Amino acid sequence: MRHYAVAIAAAASLASCNRADDGDAAAPTYVKAHDIKQLMATIVQPQADVFWRSSGSVMDEQGEHDLTPTTEERWLAARSASATVAEMGNLLQTPLYAEGRGADWIQFSKALVEIGMRAEQAVAARNSDAMFEVGGTMYNVCSACHQAYPPAAGEVPGQAPGNQAE
Ligand code: HEC
Repeated sequence: MRHYAVAIAAAASLASCNRADDGDAAAPTYVKAHDIKQLMATIVQPQADVFWRSSGSVMDEQGEHDLTPTTEERWLAARSASATVAEMGNLLQTPLYAEGRGADWIQFSKALVEIGMRAEQAVAARNSDAMFEVGGTMYNVCSACHQAYPPAAGEVPGQAPGNQAE
């Protein structure tokens, strides 16, 4: 009950903040919560990995294992990961990340949206072969941007899809 009262007080103070901002209602309030390096390392790469590890197969001492999801939870994880990749492409087009970049930045980011959407469609259709194929193209989309905007020396972003250890 006490927690509930605190939550209401917090909501009320947030609401009054919003009212105070009314004079400048059109101004965006989003912030750059991650620089490009953090965005890549903590969201884009791990999410692409979830998608890449949801098709193809992996070999170990016990033999070959199909990576296609077998549970609803893993299907949702693959879908959520591909959707996140698409939305990262949208985020990369905002001034937060596009400012100071060339026109090709937008093209590379759009390509990420498109490949993320194709990935999500393949997951929605539960088409493992299509997921594997889209995964290969996704890797090329990542690499194309990294070629034009190289990460710091010594870092090797991205991984080829398929044949990866879990
Ligand atoms: C629109 C351009 C663009 C696209 C598309 C893109 N990246 Fe990046 N990525 C960058 C830039 C720029 C850097 C360098 C950041 C830095 O070091 O300042 C980077 C760096 C990275 C890094 C290194 C992060 C670190 O810790 O230094 C990883 C990993 C990475 N990207 C993964 C990916 C993957 C996976 C994809 C595709 C699913 C992808 N990126 C797509 C622009 C892009």
